[in-house]
Amino acid sequence: MKAILSLVSMALIMACNQPGSNVEQMQQQIDSLQRKLDNTYRPGLGEFMSGIQVHHAKLWYAGANNNWKLADFEVNEVMETLDDIKKYCPDRPEVKSIGMIDPAIDSMNAAIKQQNQQLFKSSFLLLTNTCNNCHRATAHEFNVIKVPDTPPFSNQEFKPQ
Ligand code: HEC
Repeated sequence: MKAILSLVSMALIMACNQPGSNVEQMQQQIDSLQRKLDNTYRPGLGEFMSGIQVHHAKLWYAGANNNWKLADFEVNEVMETLDDIKKYCPDRPEVKSIGMIDPAIDSMNAAIKQQNQQLFKSSFLLLTNTCNNCHRATAHEFNVIKVPDTPPFSNQEFKPQ
């Protein structure tokens, strides 16, 4: 942001030195850029959570089928979305609680690395309980997450090829 502002002020100074240039015109352009920035679409916390929900379900079917490459991919998708939430939803006070999920993610990563089915199952339960703990902590306890009992999509193979 600072870099952009100093570029803009440099451009303004240069514009002032240009014969026939117009500071007012420059300000209008800045205002219009600011409006565009303000109106840029950003997914909300609920949309990020819906994405996490899909990867949580796929993670289960990947791990349950010993498809460790897919499980690794899915847990990384969850981690990327958690990072996006921190980046794009800093105005949501609930996001302060997000760190509570880290131990469950660490445990899941260890299970996948070791290709350990037992550790995978216990890590998945820990992960799922943590989703619900955070929902309870943030007054969204009515969003109850569970271990899925049917694959989320019929058009994706979860068994390793
Ligand atoms: C920061 C604590 C936190 C953690 C950790 C968390 N959630 Fe959420 N979740 C929320 C909040 C807050 C909402 C309500 C978002 C909103 O206002 O739309 C939510 C909403 C949801 C929703 C409803 C989305 C919708 O619009 O229908 C789902 C599904 C969901 N979470 C899944 C999960 C899953 C799966 C996990 C664990 C892998 C998880 N969440 C972990 C805080 C959390």
